[in-house]
Amino acid sequence: MSWLGEWVLTLECVMAKRSFAGKRVLLTGASSGIGWYLASELVRAGAFVVVTSRRSERLQQLRLAFGNPRKRLIAVPGDIADHEHRCALVDTAVEQLGGLDVVINNAGVGAIGSFDQATPERLRTLFEVDFFAATELTRLALPYLKRGNEPAICLVNSVLGHRAVPGKSEYCAAKFALRGWAESLRLELRPAGVDVISVSPSTTRSEFFESLVDTVRGTKSASVGSQSAESVAKNVLGALRKRKRELILSPAGKAFVWLNRIAPQLLDRLLSRYAIS
Ligand SMILES: NC(=O)c1ccc[n+]([C@@H]2O[C@H](COP(=O)([O-])OP(=O)(O)OC[C@H]3O[C@@H](n4cnc5c(N)ncnc54)[C@H](OP(=O)(O)O)[C@@H]3O)[C@@H](O)[C@H]2O)c1
Repeated sequence: MSWLGEWVLTLECVMAKRSFAGKRVLLTGASSGIGWYLASELVRAGAFVVVTSRRSERLQQLRLAFGNPRKRLIAVPGDIADHEHRCALVDTAVEQLGGLDVVINNAGVGAIGSFDQATPERLRTLFEVDFFAATELTRLALPYLKRGNEPAICLVNSVLGHRAVPGKSEYCAAKFALRGWAESLRLELRPAGVDVISVSPSTTRSEFFESLVDTVRGTKSASVGSQSAESVAKNVLGALRKRKRELILSPAGKAFVWLNRIAPQLLDRLLSRYAIS
């Protein structure tokens, strides 16, 4: 084939939208918020989904919520920070679905409070859940993804993985790490045809701020405005469908990251003045 033919073929592949019909998906953090809606939308779109989170009763509710047509949703409760559990997730997908096409690393936890007042455990927990769980689950899934149909790895990151704020140092660090890792992985996996898609929501209405790690009760996030978990989930799946590389979801999130690029010192001043949690 001529170089032009190859180029047209590549362009067609890039332009073709990913469909979820019949796709075998592994989704973390499905018991609430963004993950709950991701699971519902995926099943509705005809995917077969292995879901996980610690709260098994919530996963049961999720299964009952839409009747689980043709056993499209398989719940495997457990702690994503646990290596054995991650192995069980991939094994379940392979044994019950015959392989894997998409992994969505959505499970995450946050914390609020200054670094010098925090315990070392807070930093460890956030890295275990927000970074190591996603990277190590992906490592286990990769051999199957490479044989998958239109394979992709999706990471639910955060605007705070692009620009850090005070009072959330551990969370920002874990999300920055995830973004750096994703950038490398995207290039490493290009020859194998596995997409790596990173989606960064701004503040989202979910249970996220009710389950903060080692955080003084009642501490409020300094963020302004919020998105619904349902709309974030739809946008995450849109990014997967359209094979986006990196997507910052809200206009405010885009403006925030853009301002950081052009005037980081101004943003430093604004954040240190107004964003102390
Ligand atoms: N909410 C926001 O403002 C916001 C903004 C930007 C990015 N995000 C990101 O969006 C993603 C989803 O968060 P969300 O807003 O939907 O919050 P959420 O409602 O609190 O959902 C978090 C999910 O992660 C699961 N999870 C947490 N720790 C886990 C563990 N150790 N093992 C297994 N599952 C665990 C939770 O389930 P169990 O508790 O049942 O285990 C839950 O299903 C996270 O990665 C978060 O960083 C959120």
